[in-house]
Amino acid sequence: MADMNERLNQWLRDAHAMEQQAEQMLDAQSRRIENYPELKARMEQHIAETRSQRQRLEACMERRGTTWSGMKDMAGQFTAMMQAVGGMFASDEVMKGVLANYSFEHFEIGSYRILVAGAQAAGDAETARVCEEILREEETMASWITENIPQITQAYLMREATESDAAKR
Ligand SMILES: [Fe+2]
Repeated sequence: MADMNERLNQWLRDAHAMEQQAEQMLDAQSRRIENYPELKARMEQHIAETRSQRQRLEACMERRGTTWSGMKDMAGQFTAMMQAVGGMFASDEVMKGVLANYSFEHFEIGSYRILVAGAQAAGDAETARVCEEILREEETMASWITENIPQITQAYLMREATESDAAKR
């Protein structure tokens, strides 16, 4: 039982680092979007959700009497920044951003599914409930991206055919 709880604590720390990474990535990307107001607005909404998710994870860890590691979180943030900067140099920056977000949301969905099952196995009903709640938010964001990929892609291709590089983001 001790091992199970320690493993759950580690997964919560991983999720906390993941949310810090998500916030950095979304923030870096959304600041640069100029011509896709709906995408920008949805990303800004998800930045607020992401901050709240991180705080809810912190509450779970505090309740469980464990802490999160600053070092690992900093490494995660660095990775997110490098990814965001990498995308900024691509001429199809907005599409690289959509792809990164789509992938990241599905990584988050998988992580929270594991956390829900892990918390249930460890008998921590409150952590299972919180992770289920966060899981629904990630699924809603992933669905929004899925539904909007066709129109964003088509709008991007129209811009690319008619406008300057700066107008493509
Ligand atoms: Fe998240």
